[in-house]
Amino acid sequence: MTMIEMPAVQTRLTSDEEQILLRVLREGATLATGPEGEAFEQEFAAFAGSDGAVAVNSCSSALELSAVLCGVGKGDEVIIPAHTFVSSAVPFARRGAKIVWADIDPDTAVLSASSVERLLTKRTKAIVVVHLYGLPADMDAILALADPRGIKVVEDCAQAPGARYRGRRVGAIGHFGCFSFHTHKNINTLGEGGMLTTRAEEDAVSARKLRWMGNWPFEEERKRYWVPAMGNVAPPMADQWPYNFCLGEPNAAVGRSLIKRVDGINEQRRKQAARILAALTDCPQLQFQKVPDDREHAYHLLAARYDAPAGTTRDDLIQHLLDRYQLKTIVQYWPLHRTPLFQQFGFDRAEVPESDRWFDNMISFPWWSDMPDATLDDMAERIVAAIGDVIARAA
Ligand SMILES: Cc1ncc(COP(=O)(O)O)c(C=O)c1O
Repeated sequence: MTMIEMPAVQTRLTSDEEQILLRVLREGATLATGPEGEAFEQEFAAFAGSDGAVAVNSCSSALELSAVLCGVGKGDEVIIPAHTFVSSAVPFARRGAKIVWADIDPDTAVLSASSVERLLTKRTKAIVVVHLYGLPADMDAILALADPRGIKVVEDCAQAPGARYRGRRVGAIGHFGCFSFHTHKNINTLGEGGMLTTRAEEDAVSARKLRWMGNWPFEEERKRYWVPAMGNVAPPMADQWPYNFCLGEPNAAVGRSLIKRVDGINEQRRKQAARILAALTDCPQLQFQKVPDDREHAYHLLAARYDAPAGTTRDDLIQHLLDRYQLKTIVQYWPLHRTPLFQQFGFDRAEVPESDRWFDNMISFPWWSDMPDATLDDMAERIVAAIGDVIARAA
C-alpha cells in the first residue's frame, strides 16, 4: 500500500507554460515588474470582473494593501472569521485595529453573516470575508450589513480563484479581493504570487504606488531624464510608507496562462469532489461543506467535520488512517484567537463555538488538481474501512 498524502505543489505547469517561462527568461525586457505584469493585471481584472487588479508577490501582500486602502488604523474594529489562515488578520492587527473574531456557519464552514451582525459596532471599519476551502461565503447578506454603514468588505479569495457566488466571481463583489498564487493553491505563479482586485480604479492606482517604494513615474515632464533623480521617491498616499510587493515577469507570464485554464482546473476539482463524496455517502460521520445552490465551489481543499462515533475521537481516526491505511490527513485552521501569536497581542477572546467545533473535529484529505480516479476510489475505500474499524473497536 502506498502512502497517499497532500503534495506541496497543487498544479504543475504544462509544457506550453514551461515554454512561455523560457521565452520570458531568454527574451523578456526585464525580469522585474514590466509588460507581462501589466497584461496579467488587465486579464485578471477582466476574468474577475473587477475594475482594477494589481499584481503582487503574495496574497498576504494584497491583504496588507487592502488594510491600508480601507484606511484601517488605531481605534477601528475589523471583523474577521477566527477560522482562517493567519494572513487574513495580521495586516489589520499590524495597523493597530482591534480584531473582532466572527464565527463560521456550521453547514458551509465559512463566515456566518449572522455572526457578523452580532459583532457590528460604530467602530467597525472593515469585514474580512474568507472564501475558505474554495467555497464563497454569503456575500449579499454580508454586504447588506456593511454597505449602509459604510463598512469596507475585503474578500480573502486565496483559496477560491474563479469560484462564483450568484453568478459573479469572488473578488469583485466586495471592495477588495485578495488572491494567492502560492504553490499550495489551485493555480500558482512559480510558487509565490498574488493579486489585489479593487472595485474602484483609483484604489488600484494607490495600490501600485504603495507596491514599489514610492517609485512612481514623475508627474511633470522632465527635460533631463536624470533630474531631479533617476527614479521618483513619491509618497504613495498621505501618511503612508510604501512597500516592495512587486511580482516578477516570469511569475506574471505564467499567471496569464494559468488564469485561462483555472475554470478547467476548478471544474476538474469539482468532478473529483463529486466522485469521492458519492463514494463516502455511507459515512454520515463526515460532514463535508454544504454547497448552497447559488454558489460554485473551487474545491481548494476537501475538508469535513468528523462527528466521531461514541467512544472514539477524531484523533483515533487520523492515527488509524495513517498507521493502518497509509493515508495522511491534515488538521487546519487553528482558530486564530487560540494561537500564541494573537494571544500575545491580546486577541485571545472569541465567542465562536462553531469554529472551535470545526477545528477540534475536522479532517482534511489529500487533494490536488488532476487526482486520478483510481486514487480517489482507493482513498475512499481506505476512509470507509478506517471508520468501520474505529467503530468496531469501540463497540
Ligand atoms: C485563506 C488564506 N488567506 C491568505 C493566504 C496567504 O496567501 P499567501 O501565501 O499568498 O500570502 C492563504 C495562504 O495559505 C490562505 O489560505
